[in-house]
Amino acid sequence: MYEDIERVLVTEEEIRAKIKEMGEAISRDYAGKELVVVGILKGAALFTADLFRQITIPATLDFMRIVSYAGTKSTGVHRVLLDLEYELDNKHVLVVEDIVDTGLTIRFLMDYLKPRNPASLRVASLLDKPSRRKVDVEIHYKGFEIPDEFVVGMGLDYNEKYRNLREICVLKPEVYTRQG
Ligand code: IMP
Repeated sequence: MYEDIERVLVTEEEIRAKIKEMGEAISRDYAGKELVVVGILKGAALFTADLFRQITIPATLDFMRIVSYAGTKSTGVHRVLLDLEYELDNKHVLVVEDIVDTGLTIRFLMDYLKPRNPASLRVASLLDKPSRRKVDVEIHYKGFEIPDEFVVGMGLDYNEKYRNLREICVLKPEVYTRQG
């Protein structure tokens, strides 16, 4: 796998330290509240697991799976493949994403979940690519801002590969021509 990597953008240590910080902030902010953490599959599965372990207050865990019709590039046309198991009424909901790119997925999720009457609805994202934003979305807990490059690792994939890399990495250009 590592032979396909051009460079590491964020190391495993940096990721671990940041997730611990995010967990502490979330634990402080939601103390005494009913917190529901909603991981967005599949990209945020690994980040959600690591972040959830760093939350030190009682919280429940649920998952959604969303697909966007355009494969790797987001079009803003989304479909829910797996919905939440539990109601959100009066719960404090934290949506956990791997990366906010155009912002269209988060916008879709906010519009989809708001009518379920959560007490609050916020977003935590491991990565943020602000240069590609198409719609304005608020990220309440943010890991790392990255430049406009396609990245893999820590749950993020290219054609379903590289999710199990422990770092956030940029692939060699020939990988895209080889597999794309
Ligand atoms: P958005 O709707 O454009 O904000 O895109 C969000 C989704 O696109 C993420 O949850 C990822 O699944 C995917 N995505 C965006 N940028 C990347 C990337 O650099 N690597 C892997 N997946 C990405």
